[in-house]
Amino acid sequence: MSSALRSSRSRGPWWSRPGLGYEHGELHFAGQAVAALARLHRTPLYLYDAARVTENLDRVRAALAARALPFRVFYAMKSNRHPPLLRALRRLDACGLDTCSPAEVARARACGFAAENISFTGTSLSDADLDALLRHEGLVLNLDSLHDIARVGALAPGRRIGLRINPGLGIGYRRNRLLRYAGGRGTKFGIHREQFPAALRLARRHGLVVEGIHFHTGCGYLTPQLPVLAEIFSACQPFVAQVSRLRYVNLGGGLGIPLVPSDRPLNLSAWSALVAQQFGGRGFEIWCEPGDYLVKDAGLLLLEVNTVERKGRTLYAGVNGGFQLHIEPAFYQLPLVPVPVHAPGPRTRLRPTTIAGHINEALDILHRDAHLPPLANGDLLAFLNAGGYGAAMASNHCMRGAFHELLLSS
Ligand SMILES: Cc1ncc(COP(=O)(O)O)c(C=O)c1O
Repeated sequence: MSSALRSSRSRGPWWSRPGLGYEHGELHFAGQAVAALARLHRTPLYLYDAARVTENLDRVRAALAARALPFRVFYAMKSNRHPPLLRALRRLDACGLDTCSPAEVARARACGFAAENISFTGTSLSDADLDALLRHEGLVLNLDSLHDIARVGALAPGRRIGLRINPGLGIGYRRNRLLRYAGGRGTKFGIHREQFPAALRLARRHGLVVEGIHFHTGCGYLTPQLPVLAEIFSACQPFVAQVSRLRYVNLGGGLGIPLVPSDRPLNLSAWSALVAQQFGGRGFEIWCEPGDYLVKDAGLLLLEVNTVERKGRTLYAGVNGGFQLHIEPAFYQLPLVPVPVHAPGPRTRLRPTTIAGHINEALDILHRDAHLPPLANGDLLAFLNAGGYGAAMASNHCMRGAFHELLLSS
């Protein structure tokens, strides 16, 4: 893997951008010196940059607005539910929230979002879940099984609903099958094509008004995957065609960001052109619910080195966090790139170093063979692109679940 620290240009490493990079040899994020924040708040520490989230949201909105599409964006709070972040989004008033559990809906409401601005798409719902959800009048409810249609029909006849469909084809970061929500050997999500007529009959029987079609088929796609997205959109057309007077088609999330130097940013203009081509001008609104795209590159995870030792051919640096704090490298094989908080000098020899977490599991490797300067105990590492599905998926495995989060506003 190429170095995360060297750049062919003199401007800085490939990941640096305004607000993130080395200033006088010290890593800065959202205009603040990261080492000072770590000293003040201690590690493990998640830092989030509010301005970057806003920029990312603005970019999605601008891409859709450029196509003159009627649209709404619902931020998928499952990617990061830090209350200060949700409240900051509420103040911006530029998106609603996508939720997947009654507790997420409750948090969204507590952070100021009205029920009409919350879209819910969950799976394997219990009766208690449905009871709790139906208490939020106006909540947008996308149902992903015949079972749920029957239960909502019995509890709230006449209610407006959306149907989460499964177009039979998935998409994900590069060739990563672990991130696909449809296709392949089949997934648990959505109403399949052969079930769809029965779903519509069931809805009619209960007087439910189908106002939306929803699909979410995978995570992390970039420009090279757009042809697959075009196929997915085509596969959705037969579902859309069967519902008259649709209010919205919800494309789900899945928009990816570059994680390694060879990734290019998603071409949002090409993305929105595809959306407009397949769904534009049809009288319904286009909704989407990005999570990662808004928050992933707006977050850093700071950990401290506590052990440096060569074992066999591998140089390991042990740190005070592991897959219980950020699950993606271990479970989804997604890169979580570490960079030192103090920039290496121009002549420092970088060495392949494997970053090992402090969880007693073989899977607990945060990064293999990162090119890093010589590390010592007490050194700080910042893991890039840690703002999505990090803290949100954290566990207390090995009773090492403690960490802090901080939203930085410049
Ligand atoms: C229904 C639904 N919508 C949106 C998202 C957000 O996906 P992403 O963070 O990849 O944009 C997810 C993620 O799992 C999802 O399940």
